[in-house]
Amino acid sequence: MKRIHKVAVLGAGTMGARIAAHFANAGVPSYLLDIVPPDADGAARNKIAAAGLEAAKKSKPAAFFKPELARLVTIGNFEDDLKHLGEVDWIIEAVVENLEIKRALLKKVEAIRKPGTIVSTNTSGLPVAKIAEGFSDDFRKSWLGTHFFNPPRYMRLLETIPTPETDPAAIEAVAGFESDRGSALQDGRKINLNLRNAQSEFRGAARQVGDPGGSECSFGRRAAEVNAGSAEVAALGHRNLHASLGEREGQRCSGLSSADDE
Ligand SMILES: NC(=O)c1ccc[n+]([C@@H]2O[C@H](COP(=O)([O-])OP(=O)(O)OC[C@H]3O[C@@H](n4cnc5c(N)ncnc54)[C@H](O)[C@@H]3O)[C@@H](O)[C@H]2O)c1
Repeated sequence: MKRIHKVAVLGAGTMGARIAAHFANAGVPSYLLDIVPPDADGAARNKIAAAGLEAAKKSKPAAFFKPELARLVTIGNFEDDLKHLGEVDWIIEAVVENLEIKRALLKKVEAIRKPGTIVSTNTSGLPVAKIAEGFSDDFRKSWLGTHFFNPPRYMRLLETIPTPETDPAAIEAVAGFESDRGSALQDGRKINLNLRNAQSEFRGAARQVGDPGGSECSFGRRAAEVNAGSAEVAALGHRNLHASLGEREGQRCSGLSSADDE
């Protein structure tokens, strides 16, 4: 099975910076890249990625288990640093939710990545296969959706969205990441970078919600909110949260609609 030793996160916004932070929590170094601001020179060319990393360092609740883990995140930009993509095992695209912007960036990635490098998108709602339409066979075999939820450290679920063309080995590599790194319990709590499917992830999430983020019901509502762009997953997630929470609490959470309610 392909092992994940180093990753690149493309886009240092709300999600990208915090995804990189959570990889750092699991002990995995990353490149965190973003666009170059107009007319920027020197260090200012990394200004947007730097701002994203700073925001992650200051975010509340904390994105990093420990502040010093930020050293595992190397910032850069899409013009000067795409060459580093040849060093990584998994590239996670988390730029703005725009099909053409994602495709244009990924075309550059396609030219640079090593064959077999996993490439995934954090899209909330764009069709995953369509983003890579017309890309090389090797790219499409290594391509899938990996939908982290906000904030990644606290939303302990990850939706995996293979396309019909995704090589099972790529899914296995991503899914195997938890067994590889999940024991890195740096704050005594299990990291869920686990990738099964939405259904089991939501069940897992419902089981694990002894989280500082709040009660199980508030966790469920949060999951419902962040899933607003993915109706099918949201319906599945709500149903499973209800099933899990209902069994445990003997009650339903108000404000959490579910497919069972409709
Ligand atoms: N915010 C959420 O709660 C959330 C949750 C799950 C998934 N997502 C998905 O994650 C992805 C990123 O969302 P976000 O909330 O982090 O967005 P964001 O706006 O915070 O960050 C997007 C990043 O894209 C960069 N960008 C802007 N124009 C660009 C261009 N032309 N080329 C390349 N990069 C460009 C920006 O500089 C920015 O850093 C989206 O696909 C979104 O749907 C978001």
